[in-house]
Amino acid sequence: MEQKTCRIGCIGMGGRGRGMMEMLMSVPGVIVPAVCDLVEERIDNGIKSVKERNNGEYEVHGYSDYKTMFEMEDLDAVYVATTWITHIHIAIDAMKAGLHVGLEVGGAASIDECFQLVRTSEETGKFCMLMENCCYDRKEMATLNMVKQGIFGEIIHCEGGYRHDLRDEIVLGRENIHGRLVNFMHRNGELYPTHEIGPIAKVLDINRGNRFVSLVSMSSKSKGLNEWIKNNKGTDYDLYGYDWCCGDITTTIIKCANGETITINHDCCLPRPYSREFMVQGTKGLIKEVESAVGDDAVIYLDGISEEAHSWEYFNEKYRAKYEHPLWREDDTVNFVGGHGGMDYLILAAFAESVQLDAKPPIDVYDTATWMVITALSEESVAKGGAPVTFPDFTDGKWVEREPYRRGRYCLDEICLDYFEGEEK
Ligand SMILES: NC(=O)c1ccc[n+]([C@@H]2O[C@H](COP(=O)([O-])OP(=O)(O)OC[C@H]3O[C@@H](n4cnc5c(N)ncnc54)[C@H](O)[C@@H]3O)[C@@H](O)[C@H]2O)c1
Repeated sequence: MEQKTCRIGCIGMGGRGRGMMEMLMSVPGVIVPAVCDLVEERIDNGIKSVKERNNGEYEVHGYSDYKTMFEMEDLDAVYVATTWITHIHIAIDAMKAGLHVGLEVGGAASIDECFQLVRTSEETGKFCMLMENCCYDRKEMATLNMVKQGIFGEIIHCEGGYRHDLRDEIVLGRENIHGRLVNFMHRNGELYPTHEIGPIAKVLDINRGNRFVSLVSMSSKSKGLNEWIKNNKGTDYDLYGYDWCCGDITTTIIKCANGETITINHDCCLPRPYSREFMVQGTKGLIKEVESAVGDDAVIYLDGISEEAHSWEYFNEKYRAKYEHPLWREDDTVNFVGGHGGMDYLILAAFAESVQLDAKPPIDVYDTATWMVITALSEESVAKGGAPVTFPDFTDGKWVEREPYRRGRYCLDEICLDYFEGEEK
């Protein structure tokens, strides 16, 4: 398909924003004519990155105020990779300025800002797509494929987590101008739910025939950051002994309208290997991420199909070839080494395609608000000692009968085989 050119401005030139912008420029048809950050050095670095990649084919301008950027530039969309408490406000302003939005991940600070996000998208006709790259990771996509084929039967329970030792990134937020620090100082709850909840929500058809109804959330005590400071910065460091608001581990249980339960864990302040703990379990079996496995592996058990009763099998060995999502069968994806092993490129390509076609994105504003609001609800539940908190329905009841999603290669509501050459229809 011929690629229409689209012009995407990039806001937030920290490590994530700049890295993703560089990759975005490798998506056919994408032009990045403007970058924005509050820090001058980061604007300069962003401009340099664009110039190193655009072969002098177009000019690139830098801005410290995104609203000025909206006024001065002729853009189709923006990619926003700022901080958790600025994302939604920038997205709202961008849609009001007539731009589609790709929003980096993070949790919302309030229910109200999520409603504003949804209403602005509805009123302006501009989309806001959460850039939840984990929806496009290999094992999550294969699992989605298997769920859609009914391999696990009826889904009953899912689990996930963001288990990532970020102690240095959090504590050194002032030295490195990083946004996480203030959140861990002042907020207690599930601060980063979307890496695991995005793929789970797509597995469970959330906002399309199903919805999150309520959650309960509890946080542990906070010891990990002070222990890290003592061992790495010494007890004279001014944050040593700080009364950190965020518990080291926050556990949240979500109940869905169709009866499923989901458990998620936020775990960034203790020493441990990375894991998203992805698990999907149904009446016929389950798949479960193997923590820190080489090659993105998982274990699986299928009733009556697995060779030995009550025994795990390795997903890669026996099932991957059969159930790989067609996007991951393609050479250019599998051989793509950058950006979390390929999923970053896929989400950028999905975003760019929606901008180019001026069409619905695979993760829409209802998904975005529903996944992000978990943070605000979790904070409320934690503050009330783990009390149940109900989810707002951002669709205003339309979840029982929604307009159709857009089918395509990047669709996360269906595996659209007819969009892939050589796949059996
Ligand atoms: N999807 C992923 O795998 C992934 C990975 C890393 C980070 N992230 C997300 O990406 C976002 C950015 O992460 P990071 O590590 O680069 O964070 P960061 O804090 O290092 O960078 C944020 C940048 O945004 C700038 N900024 C803040 N407010 C701004 C405003 N109003 N206008 C313009 N610029 C502004 C800051 O100056 C900073 O340079 C975060 O939300 C993070 O959660 C996602």
